[in-house]
Amino acid sequence: MTNSVSAPVTPERIYQFAFAYAMPLVLEAAIRHSVFDVLDEGPKSVAEVSQATGASVRGLSSIMNLLVGIEFLSKDRAGKYSLTPESSTFLVSTKPSFQGGLIRHTSEHLLPKWLSLNEVVATGRAVGSVNQQSTGTDFFEKFVVDIFPLSYPVAQELAAHLKLNASAAPVSVLDLAAGSGVWGIALAQSSPHVRVTAVDWPGVITVTRNTVARFGLTDRFSFHSGDLQLADFGSGHHVATLGHILHSEGIDRSKALLSKTFSALAPGGTVAIAEFLVNADRTGPLNG
Ligand SMILES: C[S@@+](CC[C@H](N)C(=O)[O-])C[C@H]1O[C@@H](n2cnc3c(N)ncnc32)[C@H](O)[C@@H]1O
Repeated sequence: MTNSVSAPVTPERIYQFAFAYAMPLVLEAAIRHSVFDVLDEGPKSVAEVSQATGASVRGLSSIMNLLVGIEFLSKDRAGKYSLTPESSTFLVSTKPSFQGGLIRHTSEHLLPKWLSLNEVVATGRAVGSVNQQSTGTDFFEKFVVDIFPLSYPVAQELAAHLKLNASAAPVSVLDLAAGSGVWGIALAQSSPHVRVTAVDWPGVITVTRNTVARFGLTDRFSFHSGDLQLADFGSGHHVATLGHILHSEGIDRSKALLSKTFSALAPGGTVAIAEFLVNADRTGPLNG
């Protein structure tokens, strides 16, 4: 029996989802063509954005109108486009709060893998492994710098939570699967007593080294290249960070990694894990 007060069932959401793949691609095109950067200087018409970026008026007007529709831009009566508070804060590439790095990987690295989903569902087999050095290095050396802003504020919160700035004694941090080094960098910035051991594959540890150097923290770090399964983690660390690594290691390797990490800690040490987690039903939140 139908409930007389419930809203009528419509196919609206299905039509929206039918083209939902377009949204990150539109954001990527706007980021790659510096639309948000140019509009950060002030409101502009499509022609002015075209002149400033070199992209076509036809292409820009398509994506900029959609960006108004999905509320990353606004448009006034004179046809001038402006940033919204959200795009102004998170999509201007020159700002430290920029979060568009992940989106830059949509067309080249992320979507091509999702295109095999029909087959993956049929077979239950992953399309590829990012936990193998041969294939993972190529992916991660491009990826890790762009995801730095995702974890930097969270890593700063971790430093505050651990009250590292109050420590008068040396603090040894083990940054596992360090990537850009974001976890070790934020912890090292919180106290001059923090020393970091960063571990990642040889191809990626070079990226870690470069990022750490940009922050002027090279003398506070030691860099260890190797696979997490084989690398020597040392011992007596007070904090170990596992930033966005367990999800790609799988259950068995994650258990072994946690056990090895625990053994590398000083008594009373802390293991800090960052992941996009889901609820117990595994139905949300969506980014998990
Ligand atoms: C998603 S990134 C996370 C990087 C960083 N921890 C962060 O939170 O931004 C995963 C990192 O783990 C590294 N990695 C993945 N599997 C690894 C393994 N088996 N051994 C060593 N490093 C590995 C990758 O090179 C990459 O830097």
